[in-house]
Amino acid sequence: MITSVQLIPLLEPIRPQMERVECLLHETLTEVEEPIRSKLRYSLDGGKRLRPSLVILSGQVFAPTTEPFYSLAAAVDMLHTATLIHDDLLDEASLRRGRKTLHTIWPPGAAVLAGDYLLGQAISLIAELGHPRIFKVFGETLCTLCAGEIRRMVAQGGHSHQDYYRSIEAKTASLFTASAEMAGILAGSEEMQIAALRRFGRELGMAFQIVDDVLDFIGDEEQLGKPAGSDFRQGVVTLPVLYYLERVENSGPVHAVLSGQQDEGHVCAAIEAVRSSGAIEASLAEARAYARQSQEALATLPDNTSRQLLCSLADYVVERKR
Ligand code: IPE
Ligand code: IPE
Ligand code: MG
Ligand code: MG
Repeated sequence: MITSVQLIPLLEPIRPQMERVECLLHETLTEVEEPIRSKLRYSLDGGKRLRPSLVILSGQVFAPTTEPFYSLAAAVDMLHTATLIHDDLLDEASLRRGRKTLHTIWPPGAAVLAGDYLLGQAISLIAELGHPRIFKVFGETLCTLCAGEIRRMVAQGGHSHQDYYRSIEAKTASLFTASAEMAGILAGSEEMQIAALRRFGRELGMAFQIVDDVLDFIGDEEQLGKPAGSDFRQGVVTLPVLYYLERVENSGPVHAVLSGQQDEGHVCAAIEAVRSSGAIEASLAEARAYARQSQEALATLPDNTSRQLLCSLADYVVERKR
């Protein structure tokens, strides 16, 4: 059975490969007992599959896609989905991928364990590749992601651009970096080219998270498939907030929310204040700069359709609305 996948339009040229990834995501869970299987499928459905597409395209820069790349791509989205299940519980988010979050329809403890279960499935897929270097990158990336999320939770006052970049590099860019890097390793490419893929993934991931943080202020909940304004309500200081605080004399409305005044009136006033301060444009300019740097990293790779699609992916990441 071909499972249909809702691809972003620019990935249409690799639809057959992405449908194979989709099938594998489902097939891998066939033996899992109920009700765990249906809850894992529920959680996996509806993602944009950006990281798996990064695996497929990075590999295809060097050679046509073979079976191990599908396993790697599926494992990467399983790891990503597991982090989302855990992230939503930590963020008390109600909506993900246009559906109720797992911890709101299941006991929260079971949701934690379902995330862990998915990590176990991802590890099994990676193990089948029989490639210790990829295994090591995968394990280290999981550690980096966890450290990034922990840092975000226990951040103590330090609200500099440097703190912000350190945080998003760990919690988000690390998996983009690893996706491109692991595909390069699997393709048997030269070290210089693996390094170029790493850099591409890293800069792309930075741009991606900055735009995610911008969408938290200007995005539409229905289109995003997840709540807007949620980081802000939780007092997380993202790039738009940093720019806002630097730009305005009277940062009262935002300080009120950050110091716990979370009623709708205060939150709406603060979001509007950030929107009209120029902070959104300044943040998007940074995202664009990262996207441009990611495109520069591609220069040393073979020039072919897959490389061009990676280049377009960097433009998409800045333009996206979901
Ligand atoms: C969401 O990532 C988590 C972040 C790092 C901001 P995506 O926006 O790629 O999530 P899905 O997979 O499409 O749901
Ligand atoms: C978390 O970032 C990224 C992960 C590593 C899970 P966010 O908290 O901004 O992700 P969203 O906005 O909930 O998707
Ligand atoms: Mg979140
Ligand atoms: Mg977010």
